[in-house]
Amino acid sequence: MDHIELMRKAIEFKNPAYIPLELVEVPGIFGNYGLRVSEEVSLIEGTQDFDALDATFCYIYEDMGEDSEGNRLRRSEWGFVEKVPIGGKYDYLTIKNPLADWGNLKSYEFPSPSVTDEFFVGMKKAFKRYPDRFKVAYIDPGPFYTALFIIGYEKLLMSLYTDLDKVKYVFDGIIHYYIEVVKRWKDIGAHMVTFTDTFAYQRGFLFSPKLWREHFKSFYKKMFDFVHGQGMYVGLGLDGETIEIVPDLKEIGMDVFDLRQPTLMGIDNLAKICGGKLCVKATIDMQTTLYTGTPHDIHLEAEELVTKLGERNGGFIAMVIRESTPGYPEENVRASVEAFNHFRKRRQRMNKPDSNFRVLDHPILGKMERKEQINIYVDGKKILAYEGEPIAASLAAARIKVFRFTSTRAEPRGIFCAIGRCTDCVMTVNGEPNVRTCVTPVEAGMKIETQKGLGRWQKKI
Ligand code: FES
Repeated sequence: MDHIELMRKAIEFKNPAYIPLELVEVPGIFGNYGLRVSEEVSLIEGTQDFDALDATFCYIYEDMGEDSEGNRLRRSEWGFVEKVPIGGKYDYLTIKNPLADWGNLKSYEFPSPSVTDEFFVGMKKAFKRYPDRFKVAYIDPGPFYTALFIIGYEKLLMSLYTDLDKVKYVFDGIIHYYIEVVKRWKDIGAHMVTFTDTFAYQRGFLFSPKLWREHFKSFYKKMFDFVHGQGMYVGLGLDGETIEIVPDLKEIGMDVFDLRQPTLMGIDNLAKICGGKLCVKATIDMQTTLYTGTPHDIHLEAEELVTKLGERNGGFIAMVIRESTPGYPEENVRASVEAFNHFRKRRQRMNKPDSNFRVLDHPILGKMERKEQINIYVDGKKILAYEGEPIAASLAAARIKVFRFTSTRAEPRGIFCAIGRCTDCVMTVNGEPNVRTCVTPVEAGMKIETQKGLGRWQKKI
């Protein structure tokens, strides 16, 4: 399998053979989460055939020794200082923001991108271990996060309304630096650059979306245009509830919406806004289901993600956390691998001989009468069918459960009554919408499409 091509097809809605799997934390993570040597990274059971890997550029830190209590201190290339608690691995506290006082702005020096050179020498080596995989390069934290650390949280939010020009000046310097980082990712072979950023908390925006549109959207467009100009895809991972600006982000070139908390915005909402138009990449929700759910909950969420986001000729990439950090139950991590592996290859199984999915010998009805095998086409994919059986039966045997999406809420529907009464199973058949597939027999060469809303007539009557 060409893993790189598979990812491209998923992003571009070009009917990938199956839904790709991306691993978080391979080949190693850097920066404020610590450096892991890529040779030491092992793969958990079931992920060996992963399609994409993650690599993260964070900050370049200078060690500043310890404070009087033994906590480790470090300074980033931007000049903010962090305290890492004794024994801490993932925790840190910013204790000094260089632009907490705007009086320092004149003398503030933006870092030179050359400080990143050593990082990229190491990452180039790590990339070489996986020559055939799609490489997703993260810039995490992204520009807004970095501005928060340089200026300070409260000061930045206040300054958006009192000293906006100064904030934009700092933002411009950050974007300039990250564009240089993008070039370096390109040089070592990345296929996509994903920025991880924040404009929101769990319940909504930290500031007005109107302000973001008027003053910051253009900065992101500049970055996205640059990434595209380098021949790479653009991803954006946002913390918090930001669904309101997803159409803006798509408009300025975001190719993949990267989510670690898919249930926060609601999988149905995501399907409505992104389904069939914008590729979503998601883990099982890292703050709820993966952390406190059961393996059964994880299975259900994986199925919902795949069904609602990934069954329209692409548009979904499954992501798993490689190991149980920071504190995810191991059985849940394993369950997320198993569930995604089960559902993401469902479409691929459609192409195999279907005997596994048919009841060939029923205890009451007896043996299935063998009829002539024919081919039908479902959303362009060839499916094996038996002449005369209902379309819905052929689809069920191919493990296709979603037949249509409702008109107002874009919810998936499939077989319900199975006797031609409820209309839940209607599809567009040979250009004719609203055909009840549970009572319509298949014919050789039939073209069947998942119906959106009320469907559209494609043939003359
Ligand atoms: S499933 Fe009810 S009409 Fe087909």
